[in-house]
Amino acid sequence: MNTKGYSFTPPSKALKWTGIIATIGMYIINFVGFLDTQTNSALGCGPDWPLCHGRVIPHFNNIHIIIEFAHRMLVAGFALLATIYMIWALIRFRQFIEVRILSWVGMGFIVVQSILGALAVVFVNPPAILALHLGFGLLAMVGVALLTVFLYQLGAESAQHKSGISFRKNTPLSTKRWVWATWIYTYIAIYWGSYVAFRDAGVACPTWPLCDGKLFPGFSGRVGLDFIHRLAAVGLAIIVGLLLWNLTKYRQSRPDLYKGAMWLLLAVFAQIITGANLALSHVATGPYLLHIATLMLLFADISYLVLQVVPASAHQAVYAERSQKISSR
Ligand code: HEM
Repeated sequence: MNTKGYSFTPPSKALKWTGIIATIGMYIINFVGFLDTQTNSALGCGPDWPLCHGRVIPHFNNIHIIIEFAHRMLVAGFALLATIYMIWALIRFRQFIEVRILSWVGMGFIVVQSILGALAVVFVNPPAILALHLGFGLLAMVGVALLTVFLYQLGAESAQHKSGISFRKNTPLSTKRWVWATWIYTYIAIYWGSYVAFRDAGVACPTWPLCDGKLFPGFSGRVGLDFIHRLAAVGLAIIVGLLLWNLTKYRQSRPDLYKGAMWLLLAVFAQIITGANLALSHVATGPYLLHIATLMLLFADISYLVLQVVPASAHQAVYAERSQKISSR
């Protein structure tokens, strides 16, 4: 294997800390983005972009201007920091396919998300397109978060500690398929939740656990959209429960997957509880933000499991061996 020009020193503290700050920043950007949408503040700056009511710094006359302007400022700051971080990681550790894919996913979706965000201000988009926008923001956050996880794992590998990468060498095919299927299902469930929100259907079932007193309210109209959202949550709980059950036999050999799936099941329960609270509150802002806060953790967790079932690249073994030689000199 030609390793000329590759770095064999572990990721620096500065790089890893930048990753943590960028990950938290991406979480905040998404969170405030949801707040922006839920409070109908997306047009808080009028149809202007990048200016806000024709000014660089607007007059903060109402809450919508504050939320929209804060969202734009947070995007400008944290998305820039995340981009610098990913370019830095790419320059230092480009030999790892994980670094290349995660950095490009992160940067790609930051760009797509920014363009869609700007277009959403200037044009009125249909609910199906607006719902797509949400998923792209989550993918950008996950790209940055998983890159940071990977760099920490790399640091552990070079210190000769068994890390998540070493476990990745032998994942059973059935587990890989199950994890990928759960990720795809979750992504579709999230898209559906967002579509329900953009169709203003979240208030269609104002009671819980029954929908307006009915066990089966049918699939038509806004009630149907909301009911499918609830069914999707039940389906997710079953799928994740089965995944955890499937992983019980790998509890010792794959603690990364087992613990990840356990946290995922907890996150799904939290999602259902905050969802019920949201429905009973008739979609109030506080309960809505709680539903979103758990949603992002849930999605980050299932995406982490996907990273852990991807086979470790050949570079990882060379890296561990060479960095060991460097540290023993
Ligand atoms: C575990 C699976 C679940 C996932 C992944 C999920 C995800 C989502 C997402 C992505 C949104 C839209 C956020 C937005 O774009 O504004 C949403 C909204 C909502 N969800 Fe869930 N949710 C889940 C479970 C539930 C459950 C079990 C309930 C109710 C019992 C529920 C009730 C709601 C309500 C009422 C809304 C607000 C819709 C609106 O703004 O009109 N969710 N959910």
